[in-house]
Amino acid sequence: MKKILLFCDPGIDDSVAIMYSLLDPEIELVGIVTSYGNLTMEQATANAAYLLQLAGKTDIPVIRGASKPVQEEAITIYPGIHGPDGLGPIEIPEEFQYQIYPFDTIRYLIEKYKDELIIVDTGRSTTLATVFILYPDQVKMVNSYYVMGGAFFVPGNATALAEANFYGDPTSSNFIVKTAHNLTITPLNATQKAILTQDIIDAVSKNKNNVFAPLMDPIFKYYYEFYKKSVPGIPGAPFHDLLTVMVVKNPSLVDYIHYDATVIESSEAKGMSYIDYRPTSKKGKTKIAVNLRYEEFVKEFNKVMLQE
Ligand code: BDR
Ligand code: CA
Repeated sequence: MKKILLFCDPGIDDSVAIMYSLLDPEIELVGIVTSYGNLTMEQATANAAYLLQLAGKTDIPVIRGASKPVQEEAITIYPGIHGPDGLGPIEIPEEFQYQIYPFDTIRYLIEKYKDELIIVDTGRSTTLATVFILYPDQVKMVNSYYVMGGAFFVPGNATALAEANFYGDPTSSNFIVKTAHNLTITPLNATQKAILTQDIIDAVSKNKNNVFAPLMDPIFKYYYEFYKKSVPGIPGAPFHDLLTVMVVKNPSLVDYIHYDATVIESSEAKGMSYIDYRPTSKKGKTKIAVNLRYEEFVKEFNKVMLQE
């Protein structure tokens, strides 16, 4: 059983990562920490709590993280990709209420699960960096870290050079890639290939055993509309954060290179990630996912979401 504490900004692909984590019998989601990113921290928090309520899992703590990065006052959010409230066209009922847990719950969860705990971060790195600063002894107890972010010598998505999570708060991202032990990064090199297509979504939508089935088609269509415009000819939409969670349980879905990464903090290359890839350079400890075994990815998605 993989015990996961998920840092995220749901957001459509974060939301599908949450759904997958809740439905996979081999994953125990022990908490969700929400931050600004795809949308505001408040909206991301409401969305995470809403998904937990749909799944009848309101006992899983929802913890509010950062509402802005360290360098900037204003945040940029992305309703054009994720919808006005972050779940495509779906609106959360106005009367929806939920409980928020204090930030210190993160320390409590690490101390409870220690080296059984896996931290996955599919949002901007600000909150996780804060956890490292606040709880330096506890973060060493964690088994491993998985971070969705970066684009290594492939085009970025926030800028020509930078991927959105690392672009959002490059200081915190650079701190995390330099500090977190047992770190796996899933950059755009792999996640941009983690494409779900309309036929895959149609099958999940018809599955009466999946509580999230009614959400799948509207959120997918919304998200895909954006990708059709930004990547002409793309056959579906890439679910970056879903792949990041899937890799925890299925490491062989991707190929890795072993290098220590750097994220550029300012200048025109802000948020750009790189490794020293010269033939004689020293290999590092971080695992960076570069290739995706696509058929295996779809098979694994269907296994969980169709409950096959
Ligand atoms: C990453 O940025 C966010 O918009 C997505 O949710 C994903 O985590 C992709 O670059
Ligand atoms: Ca995300």
